[in-house]
Amino acid sequence: MTDSATMDQVFVPTADPDWVILADGYDSLREVSVESRFSISNGFLGVRGVRSTTRGDRWVVPARTYVAGLFDTSGSNQATQALVPAADWLRVRILLPGGPLLHHPGDVSSHRMTLDLRRGTLRSEGRHLKAPDLGLHVHTSRLVSLSDRAIGLQLIRMEIEDGELDVTLEASFEGTELGLVTDQLRQDLGLWHTSHSRKYLAMASMAALQVNDRDIPPSALGPLKSSWAWKSRPGQVICFQRFVAIVRGDTKDIDPAKEVRDKLNQAKGLGWRGVVAAHEAAWLSRWRSSDVEVDGDAGAQLALRFALYHLNSAANPEDERVSVGARALTGDDYHGHVFWDTEIFLLPFYILTWPEAARALLMYRFHTLDGARAKAAGMGWRGALYAWESADTGAEMTPERVIGPDHQVIDVLCGKQEQHISADVAYAVWQYWQVTRDESFLLDAGAEILLETARFWSSRAVPEADGRCHIRGVIGPDEYHEHIDDNAYTNVMARWNIQRALDVVALLRTRWPARWTGLAARLDLKDGELTAWLHVEDTMATGLDPTTGLFEQFNGYFALEDIDLANYAGRTVPMDVVLGRERVQKSQVVKQADVVALLGLLPEEFVGDMKSANFRYYEPRCSHGSSLSPAMHGLVAARLGDTDMALRFFRQAAAIDLADTHAATDGGVHIAALGGLWMLAVFGFAGLSWRDDGLAIDPQLPKEWRSLKFRVQWRQRSLVLSIDPGQQTVEAIVESGDPMALFVGGQPNQISSGATAVIPIVSLS
Ligand code: BGC
Repeated sequence: MTDSATMDQVFVPTADPDWVILADGYDSLREVSVESRFSISNGFLGVRGVRSTTRGDRWVVPARTYVAGLFDTSGSNQATQALVPAADWLRVRILLPGGPLLHHPGDVSSHRMTLDLRRGTLRSEGRHLKAPDLGLHVHTSRLVSLSDRAIGLQLIRMEIEDGELDVTLEASFEGTELGLVTDQLRQDLGLWHTSHSRKYLAMASMAALQVNDRDIPPSALGPLKSSWAWKSRPGQVICFQRFVAIVRGDTKDIDPAKEVRDKLNQAKGLGWRGVVAAHEAAWLSRWRSSDVEVDGDAGAQLALRFALYHLNSAANPEDERVSVGARALTGDDYHGHVFWDTEIFLLPFYILTWPEAARALLMYRFHTLDGARAKAAGMGWRGALYAWESADTGAEMTPERVIGPDHQVIDVLCGKQEQHISADVAYAVWQYWQVTRDESFLLDAGAEILLETARFWSSRAVPEADGRCHIRGVIGPDEYHEHIDDNAYTNVMARWNIQRALDVVALLRTRWPARWTGLAARLDLKDGELTAWLHVEDTMATGLDPTTGLFEQFNGYFALEDIDLANYAGRTVPMDVVLGRERVQKSQVVKQADVVALLGLLPEEFVGDMKSANFRYYEPRCSHGSSLSPAMHGLVAARLGDTDMALRFFRQAAAIDLADTHAATDGGVHIAALGGLWMLAVFGFAGLSWRDDGLAIDPQLPKEWRSLKFRVQWRQRSLVLSIDPGQQTVEAIVESGDPMALFVGGQPNQISSGATAVIPIVSLS
């Protein structure tokens, strides 16, 4: 098959509207957020969805390429690491006798960009008419391979519609001198290193061009640059292909030039068709493990697919040295830094659909444990206090000052005070262990994280005259209130962290006594210390008022000004801008789910009416000043049976990136909000949870949803679960692995491998 015939097929996007995101024409106002939304990524490489035609002397523009873990500090700020963008490998220029072909994107007729979610590919199609003497119909396609994460591929097919003249196509890299120190630039290879963190980057490339299916030799070559010249004629078909291989080196031990050449050669050996096929097969396999299907609500279906696309794009099971930043690899807001977002909003998805990726993300926390120990020690505590914003080493990366929404410089205290992160990491470790029973992870890494974080909390919580242990001077998830005492979220999560660490001690002692002895000796953990932990756990202040069943968000919160947020409905800016920071701090207005997040994560801490009492108290006081907030509220609302409210929150969370209602999408997609959407669908609407002896499901679907089908992994089994509210059934299939128990409405059902079990929901009491 010739390139011109088969490239055609590559450019035909998935026809099903549930699987594609489109951008037609050109809107200069929306351009930057479209770039974030249309990013392609494979957890190692991320390339923003910059359109293929733009103003200036370029024709195909450089798209900003991020390489996971390529952190450096800038000369002026040695404390804060940021992701350094790599050279852009997609640049193409068309040179005509009168000079380069210039285009304002608005001049291109019928331009369409298509993000193909199923195949993980970004395509574009556009007509360049008479510009100035050449009419072109152009298709482009790009991908970063999910099958071999070092590889990127760019394909262009151009049909000459008009014009006979000398044309040169020049393919080069842009920004080869930006941000990195150049070690070598050759025709097919670039080598760089970072200035301070001493990381290495290698990029190798190979490009080829055919005119009417005949290879044209390059007419000129330069550093990471090739050109081809020919005479255009109407009807001619030009096919261009470019492979890139990218390798990051964290130490001098590897030879990045050799590794990158090997990678490129493997890709060249496969050919572009082979690269496309392997990439699409890898995506298919991810969809087989993670798809969520909604019948009856096309908007929700697309929102979930978009979320799953970015979640599957963001992680890399092969790299334990990196985690997912707050904007994944789709933009540079927060500089690639990793927050609690990963453990609380992303890990549930990975743990239940992609345990290998979950493991790698947790191993990142294990490898940065020393940074967390150093932070705790530096602040006078024991154990491990994770960085609120983490990058490469686990050292604290939170900036000390930022420009606030009103353009005043404000101090940021999160790096010192937002300490719940340590319990959040422990929480994710425990969830992973519960779902996977991955013993080697627990023994080699997980137990140590649980113990060191518990040790931190036991030194952090101080016994006082009232006989209780208090944690003073923190910031909870609601960041509007700073330097607070006994934040319910922090204290209850800390207590839970200590309990789970004590569970793990008991487990190790019984099942792996030699491992326990070794670990306890290495961590210098003696029985006396464990008894002290027990005491802290027993006496932790939580702010629970037994008469009302309400947790006080922090000490003194109930006495603050109660502001009715209903009076501010329709506002377009956050409440701290509306009221000013000072007034917000003196009020009960909450930035984001705080006690509600605790209810979402540890529902067992709320008995009987406490769940609804706390939700009904805090929900109206929450201003959703963070993109993390709506999905967490939706999850809790769904579990409480308020599916109308839950669906409203679902749509609010979905709109953050998709409807472009959130100005901040320019700097990358809100990956935690996307993880939250999955949690809301699976933990909220489907009501999935787990117990020691199996999975449980307690569906609460919105009335618009005719069915909900999703896939999960549970202790070496793959399951597909479908909820049909019309038939009042749950259909369960264990696709691989041993039989297991599925509890529907609290009733156990044994489901065997390969057979479909149809379980009536009427058993719900
Ligand atoms: C939120 C944090 C979040 C961070 C990164 C902040 O605005 O308040 O909870 O971790 O953004 O997404």
